[in-house]
Amino acid sequence: MRIIFLGPPGVGKGTQSHKLVEFLNIPHISTGEMLREAIRNKTELGMKVATQMEGGRLAADEIVVQLVRQRLTQPDCRNGYLLDGFPRTLPQAASLDLGLAVDDEAVDAVLNLTVDQDELLSRLMARAQKEDRGDDNEETIRNRMKVYDDMTSPLIAYYEEQKVLYRIDGIGTIEEVFDRIKAVLEEVDRKKNA
Ligand code: AP5
Repeated sequence: MRIIFLGPPGVGKGTQSHKLVEFLNIPHISTGEMLREAIRNKTELGMKVATQMEGGRLAADEIVVQLVRQRLTQPDCRNGYLLDGFPRTLPQAASLDLGLAVDDEAVDAVLNLTVDQDELLSRLMARAQKEDRGDDNEETIRNRMKVYDDMTSPLIAYYEEQKVLYRIDGIGTIEEVFDRIKAVLEEVDRKKNA
């Protein structure tokens, strides 16, 4: 299965991705994680994206597309993958459609996780107390939400048109949300094998 997780900051993409890749035994490709690692390792790429990420802005499309392209050509992606946080702009989605995927196979499902704005803010503020993420402070969180609305939310209509978009209610316990995701993917699998 080739799966994309879409949804605003704090909606639970990372949490659910970790569970799902274990369940499906496919690689988890999180562009946020890849970029944070590059910053931690002070690589040239990390230096290029650090300022944008700290301000809650997006890294340049060409940088992220290049990163994902390299990752998707690894042999472990041949039987599927889960993209978490990519694509995040229409040009990134177009790059994926235009052959970024290893064997030109289309994406099976785009899972659009949703929760209301107050819950997003409260989850991210709670995480800010536990983790050391430079972009988890109130001002940057609000900026990330605005960037999501402006740059990423148009992907909802884009994937709706491709008939691969599935909305998942992200409210409830982590297990409840995971059960909803599994139910949707069973339906996708049934359709694929029909
Ligand atoms: P990225 O790392 O992708 O961050 P994000 O989209 O802002 O998402 P978060 O990690 O904040 O939230 P999440 O939805 O994964 O939720 P989580 O599971 O952690 O991107 C970071 C930055 O990298 C971007 O701002 C950008 O600068 C750059 N970047 C990345 N990809 C890019 C791209 N493609 N192009 C350009 N730039 C890119 O959960 C949040 C909290 O809620 C956790 O504490 C969790 O424990 C809790 N939680 C989860 N589920 C529940 C639940 N059901 N109930 C209660 N709490 C819950």
